[in-house]
Amino acid sequence: MFVSFFNNQFQNNSKLSFQGKDGSIKYIGNTVVKSFHSERQQEFTTERDFLTFLTNAKFPNSPKFIKTEGNSITMEKISGQNLLDFLPAATKEQILWTKEQILKVAKNLAKLGVFHNDLNRANIIIVKDTNNIPYKVVFLDFADAKKVKSLDTTQLADDMMYKKHLTPILDVFLSKAK
Ligand SMILES: Nc1ncnc2c1ncn2[C@@H]1O[C@H](COP(=O)(O)OP(=O)(O)OP(=O)(O)O)[C@@H](O)[C@H]1O
Ligand SMILES: [Mg+2]
Repeated sequence: MFVSFFNNQFQNNSKLSFQGKDGSIKYIGNTVVKSFHSERQQEFTTERDFLTFLTNAKFPNSPKFIKTEGNSITMEKISGQNLLDFLPAATKEQILWTKEQILKVAKNLAKLGVFHNDLNRANIIIVKDTNNIPYKVVFLDFADAKKVKSLDTTQLADDMMYKKHLTPILDVFLSKAK
């Protein structure tokens, strides 16, 4: 959603929060509280249902669902760097790894019958280990996700990555990286 969202960043007890016209994100300890404005009931329900489903399925590459309260979802906070921040400084090797991991996660989602409709750079977080080495990718923002039925999970994963032009964007970064 929000471009405006990110223009409205403010410091809050040394943690970042965002407030925008469509809702807000608050970091509280190890959790994130994502609130939806009341006219976004459909997106709230969709994200709640997919996060619950993926958490129950023990899917390792999405934030764990914790609870809902009104139009807010409390979920696990994922610590890492999103692709907007990660890609400009990444090496070719790291970008190739990232692309492969994203494709793998997209395929595993497709196997569960889930299509992430908004796979853009802000919605993918690279989690690093204590030596600052990337080891896992996590998909955020299931507010526009859909249930899918198809046996061709490779095709679905590919479609997921093209929906918001992620594959060509990754290829541009790859061609420029060291
Ligand atoms: N579980 C989380 N852990 C860490 N950061 C998060 C988490 N959820 C959201 N964020 C941060 O907040 C930003 C916005 O969250 P999100 O993508 O879910 O909302 P949005 O793009 O505003 O949503 P929508 O598509 O529902 O309109 C993310 O790009 C990310 O930086
Ligand atoms: Mg988003």
